Amino acid sequence: MGVDPVLLRDQCERTIGETNFEGLGKRIAGKVRDCYVDGDRRTIVTTDRISAFDVVIGTIPFKGQVLNQLAAFWFAKTSRLARNHLLEVPDPCISIARECRILPVEFVYRKYLTGVSKTSIWVAYERGEREYCGHTLPDGMRAHQELPEPLLTPTTKAEQGQHDELTSREELIARGVISAEHYDVAAEIARMLFAEGQKWARSRGLILVDAKYEMALDGEGNVTVIDEIHTPDSSRYWYVDRYEEAMREGSDPPALDKEYLRRWLVERGWTGEGAPPTLPNDVRCEAARRYIEAYERLTGDEFAPSTEEPVERMRRNLGLI
Ligand SMILES: Nc1ncnc2c1ncn2[C@@H]1O[C@H](COP(=O)(O)OP(=O)(O)OP(=O)(O)O)[C@@H](O)[C@H]1O
Ligand SMILES: [Mg+2]
Repeated sequence: MGVDPVLLRDQCERTIGETNFEGLGKRIAGKVRDCYVDGDRRTIVTTDRISAFDVVIGTIPFKGQVLNQLAAFWFAKTSRLARNHLLEVPDPCISIARECRILPVEFVYRKYLTGVSKTSIWVAYERGEREYCGHTLPDGMRAHQELPEPLLTPTTKAEQGQHDELTSREELIARGVISAEHYDVAAEIARMLFAEGQKWARSRGLILVDAKYEMALDGEGNVTVIDEIHTPDSSRYWYVDRYEEAMREGSDPPALDKEYLRRWLVERGWTGEGAPPTLPNDVRCEAARRYIEAYERLTGDEFAPSTEEPVERMRRNLGLI
């Protein structure tokens, strides 16, 4: 299990930064994904780009493949709970999805008082705030402590370059961002997915700390789960066995997600303002190692890295050559 360190190092030179395919429809690039929309189909290329504090800071070897395949794993595992957008996975880094009309809310479920970004529940709590997204938090809690209940903490989905904003069910409905009916259906789906994710993660020795869900309406108006679920970009994971120890020592629980990179950036004094520091290859490889470990831990399968020249491979798998 795991990937040869030499292979990882070599792959640093072959990461997928950006794609520009013709003939797949209108190209729309997010921070991590390059999407191509053609009628009711969306071709989603998960690139190797990594974002932190809402800014793209570089590429990580095999990250696109890990994310695409892990999202597909979770969509398959949860398809009996909720409708999702996935139609097929023609390439290690590509999914074809049903094009949907997005509900402009990110449904974030949290079970632990943690985080380092400005919108995270721990940073707000440490500032003395006890009202968070419509929930009242008890006094006297410590960093990384488990919350009494999973909390749904919605944020508005910001335009590119903007930061997402914390909000609440009542505020979203009052502002007409989403109808009460769509909100409640989506919230119930998120609750079920989070419960399922927590259960599965624990059986694999991991804690699903928090998770972000994006929801949309499909052609028939059904609430549909889109984008990605329970990946290391959209969720936070800790190791079950190392959590207790960290809490006893008062240290940060070792995480299996983007937290490694966030902390590396914070240590260099960067939290999203100004130019980000350049990622050295050893940091890129360590991040890759963690993404791959997350994949193997969660799926129980060995990660099979695709080392073929990625653009040519994708063209072939998309039938473009
Ligand atoms: N089935 C779908 N229908 C419509 N839009 C979708 C669908 N699946 C994903 N999307 C949208 O495609 C984009 C995917 O790109 P990406 O994940 O890079 O987005 P982002 O929001 O910029 O990045 P981040 O995940 O860091 O917030 C997102 O805007 C997402 O909402
Ligand atoms: Mg996204």
